[in-house]
Amino acid sequence: MNENHTFNPICRALIIGASGGIGSALPKAINTAYGITDIVKISRSDDGLDITNEDSIKDIFKNLDGEFELIFVTTGALEINGVGPEKTILQMTPENLRAHFEINTLGPALLIKHLHKLLPKNRRGILTVLTARVGSIGDNNLGGWISYRTSKAAVHQIIRTSALEIKNKYKESICIALHPGTVKTSLTQKYVGKHPSVSPDQSAKNILNVINSLSQEDTGNFFDWAGNKVEW
Ligand SMILES: NC(=O)c1ccc[n+]([C@@H]2O[C@H](COP(=O)([O-])OP(=O)(O)OC[C@H]3O[C@@H](n4cnc5c(N)ncnc54)[C@H](OP(=O)(O)O)[C@@H]3O)[C@@H](O)[C@H]2O)c1
Repeated sequence: MNENHTFNPICRALIIGASGGIGSALPKAINTAYGITDIVKISRSDDGLDITNEDSIKDIFKNLDGEFELIFVTTGALEINGVGPEKTILQMTPENLRAHFEINTLGPALLIKHLHKLLPKNRRGILTVLTARVGSIGDNNLGGWISYRTSKAAVHQIIRTSALEIKNKYKESICIALHPGTVKTSLTQKYVGKHPSVSPDQSAKNILNVINSLSQEDTGNFFDWAGNKVEW
């Protein structure tokens, strides 16, 4: 990572999942950091986007044109259909595992498939997908949360594989997985407990600090909110 890299110019940003805790904090942080107002915000709540349905993605993305220097995928779920993270594999059900793969793996995979075409062809552009440190296999010393963890581990492979391909055509592009830290949002409300956590506004600033310091060779890697590389 290059700590002092200045990433310019930023003209346009696109946020998928802009209704979420972190997604909704990013526009203000982007505006403050880069002084831009051309920030396109898309979400299920406001636009009817269902990231698990490719027709829905195509339908909504057909209205997007031009290039975006910054693209963020901030969708995801920890508790689905009222089922929270498992404490043991005995609580794992086919339905819950499938549901996690739909939202946390298939959704971002479809988004990367369609979104990478909006990266600038001859300038730097960064596609950031929010994942989670608990999706790191090497870092897993606690167990539990098997469906969420596994769906995030799977999306890491999708990000890594896509980044290798994307850089062939979009030579100055950077595509990364990013763990935002523990952030006070509806996703963590029931689970944060006494764990140290930050506000969505602080998280958005942290995310921009990380992407500002990225270099071309960082593409296809996994970083945490402080800019440290996380093992897969
Ligand atoms: N918060 C944390 O501490 C934390 C920690 C580690 C990783 N992360 C990751 O960071 C990302 C953002 O987390 P957050 O805390 O901001 O979550 P959040 O507040 O719960 O927001 C989740 C977002 O995902 C969207 N979404 C879920 N399912 C969708 C679907 N099928 N189609 C379209 N949109 C869908 C929601 O849309 P609607 O609200 O419009 O329905 C919402 O915009 C997630 O990937 C999460 O796993 C968060």
